[in-house]
Amino acid sequence: MSTPTDAPLRYVPPHPPRPDGPVPVWRGFVGERARNAVFGWSKRAFETSYFERNVLGHRVHIPLDPALVQHVMLDNAANYQKPDLVKKLLHPTIGQGLLSSDGALWRDQRRIVAASFAPAAIDALLPSFARAAEAAMAGWGGTIDMAQIATATTMRVISDALFGGDPRLTSQAAIGHIAAALEGVGGARLQVLLGLPLVPVTAKGRRGKRGQIYLRETLSAVVDDRRRRPGDDFLSHMIAALDARFAPAEAQALAVDNAATFYLAGHETTANALTWTLFLLSEQPDLQQQVAAEAQRALAAGVDDPGLGDRLPLLRRVLEESMRLYPPVPRFDRQAMADDRIGEHPISKGDFVSIWPWLIHRHQRLWEDPDRFDEARWQPDARAAHHRFQYIPFGGGPRVCVGMRFATAEMLSVLAHWLARWRFSPLPGRAVRPSGMVTLRPAGGLPLVLSRR
Ligand code: HEM
Repeated sequence: MSTPTDAPLRYVPPHPPRPDGPVPVWRGFVGERARNAVFGWSKRAFETSYFERNVLGHRVHIPLDPALVQHVMLDNAANYQKPDLVKKLLHPTIGQGLLSSDGALWRDQRRIVAASFAPAAIDALLPSFARAAEAAMAGWGGTIDMAQIATATTMRVISDALFGGDPRLTSQAAIGHIAAALEGVGGARLQVLLGLPLVPVTAKGRRGKRGQIYLRETLSAVVDDRRRRPGDDFLSHMIAALDARFAPAEAQALAVDNAATFYLAGHETTANALTWTLFLLSEQPDLQQQVAAEAQRALAAGVDDPGLGDRLPLLRRVLEESMRLYPPVPRFDRQAMADDRIGEHPISKGDFVSIWPWLIHRHQRLWEDPDRFDEARWQPDARAAHHRFQYIPFGGGPRVCVGMRFATAEMLSVLAHWLARWRFSPLPGRAVRPSGMVTLRPAGGLPLVLSRR
């Protein structure tokens, strides 16, 4: 007979409560649901293969079956572009950069940056990942907000790796303004949906506007400097390639748009994935111990060689499971350019399609015991049984995250350095709650208790 100690450990990390019945659309505009994209989903949303909503006159399709998701993101991707509403919302911050453009303008920009994210280019960045991870550990001990540390670290990485280490991008002022700008984008969603002008009406909106202005002005100055004194970095190469392809005024605007795009897209998501992974390991001390031992062995064989990632198979599985349970980008949207069908569901030109990693990654029909943490899901055999569109933390198809390889190498390196040296334990009595409109993070940060290994 099995005793309680033989029973398999089942760890279910926190998620918002799930009401039984469907949640009315209007609830999305008041209270917690208006501030938190992952709050208020009913049980049904995690069981059905597709549903449809009418949001303030916009028809929104939500496909959850991976074959339907594949249709939108890959098979007929040309028909599903970034929605005009989303472009309008993002325009003041990232203009027409890679993330927020479509068609020929998108293709030209994707081609221009592709070389900077090829495997050899990422390998060359490994020393800078290791340096940022090391530098972050200065003064550690006691209770530390690891969400803040993760943000500061990934900001430093992106500024070192892509912008020649420009100090204007890692200052305390920059950190505050960027957080405000991102919150402002989440808060302005309702205004855009209602077709109202993007004039900030709340204190949060005004802080967001100031953040956007700071970001644009700072990045314009950084671009101007690089134009005068080109270096051997991503930004200088991108400016030269844009100058060769576009007229001067357009090239200048796109350089600033993409500087903002890469600066924002390149650090906030990665910081959230690092934070969630540390949280999940802090709750599972035995697993954390195994990961730490693996990291110590892997680093002993070399801290910044291209083989490091391959020496961290357990950490890699933990990271993948972390991005399944807490996808840093919980949803992204498309708009149909022409009538179509998604499976049996008719789509009209102009309809929205929302892709929800948050729902797909915890779907009852796709995963066994979906809310449970289980790194074994990422063992080669188990992984081979997954549909490729049932796990989409980086999106998929032609618009897949261009920084996926960069982010993965960075996260493995940073986590290995931190876990090899420090033990991360929960702060007693503090509950963790996932929250966010654009990216998913623990509400109010992640204070953990740190002790040396
Ligand atoms: C854990 C870290 C990251 C996650 C979870 C993530 C997630 C995503 C997702 C889901 C998309 C697709 C959105 C859509 O289809 O609408 C995307 C696109 C993008 N990401 Fe990432 N990302 C991460 C890190 C990075 C990094 C490090 C960079 C840059 C250095 C980056 C730059 C971009 C850009 C520029 C796009 C737009 C690509 C295009 O439309 O062609 N991301 N990312």
